[in-house]
Amino acid sequence: MRCSKLVMCALSSTQALDEALVRSVQCSKQARKALARGDVPVAWLDVTAADDAVAERLAPLLAGPARCAHDDDAFEAHNARTKREFVELFAGDGLDPANNELAPATAVAVARGLDLDAADAFCDLGCSAGALTMAVAVATEARLAHGVELSPRGTERALLAKERCGDDRVEFFQGDLRDGVDHAAYDVFYCGIRGVASRPRVLGDLLETLCAQDKPYRLVCAGFGVDIRGLYGDRVSLVRATVLRRAGAGASYADAIPLYGEGEGPRVLLEYSIT
Ligand SMILES: C[S@@+](CC[C@H](N)C(=O)[O-])C[C@H]1O[C@@H](n2cnc3c(N)ncnc32)[C@H](O)[C@@H]1O
Repeated sequence: MRCSKLVMCALSSTQALDEALVRSVQCSKQARKALARGDVPVAWLDVTAADDAVAERLAPLLAGPARCAHDDDAFEAHNARTKREFVELFAGDGLDPANNELAPATAVAVARGLDLDAADAFCDLGCSAGALTMAVAVATEARLAHGVELSPRGTERALLAKERCGDDRVEFFQGDLRDGVDHAAYDVFYCGIRGVASRPRVLGDLLETLCAQDKPYRLVCAGFGVDIRGLYGDRVSLVRATVLRRAGAGASYADAIPLYGEGEGPRVLLEYSIT
């Protein structure tokens, strides 16, 4: 079942990616080469008016706490906590705390593009305030929509979204994506962590953990690839690339929606299959 789903998606397009889109893929020369050669099927996913409509239901669930004024004590406390979290949880291991969220309509389209059905358990690795996890709950039939986030403050915000939606498929955990969840409980992972320097090591650790288990997984990486030669090369393969655009747009770098909203932000989702 899972295989035929992948093959169906893979056949949706066989065009090679625009050169600038290939260049935008970080961390893996191997992935860029495969994309440039046209070895990887590319699917363009249109963000439609229907996604916008679902996003309108999603946005209130994701609303954060009111912003404090720049000169009050709450703002000082907020900054002090950010600094403490960074020093205690991120800095020592060279991890990147950048917590950009997918915009609601983008999150809905990404969730829809994951092609999840009622047999799939999904986990967002580095879920920040939970935009994608909540979109999976709102827009798909997945049996679990979970997220793990290293930042306690990010996790608190995500838990607020869970409380608002009252869907018992949703759960959030505070911890490291490498050992803060029971990976075997899931079938499909998404990872949008930032940090060009530390990401290859973090993803290497993750793949080692996944490959140590006798279970297939899908892993979708937002804007970056993984070098899959070596230890786990025979279990892991790059199976497709997905790029978001507004309905009716073309197939160039400029037509692709930057996933995290910045001009030069990641645009290509790469899906790896772990068999
Ligand atoms: C760009 S955000 C991803 C947002 C979310 N996935 C979404 O799509 O809306 C990246 C998040 O990964 C978290 N992160 C970075 N390294 C991590 C790790 N090793 N374990 C868990 N979370 C991590 C950061 O704190 C940040 O909140």
